[in-house]
Amino acid sequence: MTQATPIRFVPFVPSDVLTAKGRVALIVPPEGTLDQACRTVNRVTKGGLARLLESDSFAKAKSGQVFSLAWPAGLEAEAVDVVVLPRRATETEARKAGSALAKVAGGKPVTVMAASMLKTAEFALGMALRDYAFERHKSAEAEPRGEVVIAHKKPEEAEVAYAPLAAVADGVHMTRDLVNEPANVLTTSNFAERLVEMTELGLEVEVLDEAQLEELGMRTLLSVGQGSDSPSKVVVMQWKGGTEGQAPLALVGKGVVFDTGGISLKPAAGMEDMTMDMGGAGVVAGTMRALAGRKAKANVVGLVGLVENMPSGNATRPGDVVTSMKGDTVEIINTDAEGRLVLCDVMWYAQDRFNPAGMIDLATLTGAIIIGLGHENAGVFSNDDSLCNAFLKAAEAEDEGAWRMPLGKAYDDQLKSRIADMKNVGGRPAGSITAAQFLQRFVKDGTPWIHLDIAGVASVTADTSYAPKGATGWGVRALDRLVRDSFEAE
Ligand code: BES
Ligand code: MN
Ligand code: ZN
Repeated sequence: MTQATPIRFVPFVPSDVLTAKGRVALIVPPEGTLDQACRTVNRVTKGGLARLLESDSFAKAKSGQVFSLAWPAGLEAEAVDVVVLPRRATETEARKAGSALAKVAGGKPVTVMAASMLKTAEFALGMALRDYAFERHKSAEAEPRGEVVIAHKKPEEAEVAYAPLAAVADGVHMTRDLVNEPANVLTTSNFAERLVEMTELGLEVEVLDEAQLEELGMRTLLSVGQGSDSPSKVVVMQWKGGTEGQAPLALVGKGVVFDTGGISLKPAAGMEDMTMDMGGAGVVAGTMRALAGRKAKANVVGLVGLVENMPSGNATRPGDVVTSMKGDTVEIINTDAEGRLVLCDVMWYAQDRFNPAGMIDLATLTGAIIIGLGHENAGVFSNDDSLCNAFLKAAEAEDEGAWRMPLGKAYDDQLKSRIADMKNVGGRPAGSITAAQFLQRFVKDGTPWIHLDIAGVASVTADTSYAPKGATGWGVRALDRLVRDSFEAE
């Protein structure tokens, strides 16, 4: 089961710095004030640390920068990592510093001499987030991730503060594992099995099969998966941590385990990236895992539509007309605009069954959002300023890029069809917005709703501040915080 490396909190004993194995980290504020562990290191290295602090490089150092002294004299550790962190660091600064240290440590054991660090839990979260590698398909035996120990004057307090964040780190790691997993392994059935395993955490998990989806009338969703040998599924995960009967927050995820484009086949170059087209469902899963792991006092239901978009003799053709669960008919102009066809049925089902207090859907929906916002920000679309602003605030606090985009009737008009209630594409202009307009047609009046287009942020080709290249887990932290700030009882 997916788990971030556990972090152990121990009492701070300055002399332990001399005997710690692996790497040992010292925390130094930019002013260069030294705690007892630092003074000990400075003494045994005959002023080595002081020379670093007097150097030009240290004078120019930024918060979160790490200076490594290899094979230091007088210590058993193989390296001392000096982490620059202001005493009054912000949460983000503390996380970034922890993350920078974990990157330097590269999975090797590390002891952090944190003495009386203030944002210890956040620092630990940064370490846990960055301490990740997807190695299960490398034939060489993967080295186990080294132990992370944080020595603090108040270890119990730090441990209590970190416990809920450890659950969030676990959720982020789960999302990354799902998004990184190739489609021959992460089939629709395998995905569903992994979600069912989360019943261990106290989630109620149901898997709806094709016969049940047919019965419910989810024809647009089924039309996407009908070309694949893998059966389409909808998985419903309920976390009932709030008061009984209180309307839940609904999280809905696009789970296209592989998107070939279907009959509107994608070009060969880069098609392999479409293993990440279940990123929305991955974030919903990771968020549910985080909420259950920290026993959030809120009712949240996660729903994912799991399908594979393949061409075959049985696949949907361009020009086909299908009827959604809502009853609206859709002319499928392009079988590669499949995510909206999956989401619209799951969103309708979510509202029909749960009457949620709010609904947030996540999807790697359009290439156009990458043209617009790159890999820095997810596109945010909403019919409700208050929910939307709460989300944007949570995303900002978590340092997860999110940028609001417009909706409007003129965009919606681009979806008019000659023969059905709507087309599934609105042409090249404003491709991400017309996709959102399509979804909004399936949002009931009075349901506060946010659509997050995460095509640009779910998986990236360069390291980020919190993740090595590949799947990022973007959104788990923002959604967890949104639940904490806006949906949890005191
Ligand atoms: N899964 C893709 C969107 C995507 C593109 C995700 C790149 C991640 C990276 C989606 O299903 C898709 O194919 N969208 C089309 C829509 C078009 C046919 C209207 C697109 O963006 O080209
Ligand atoms: Mn597609
Ligand atoms: Zn897709």
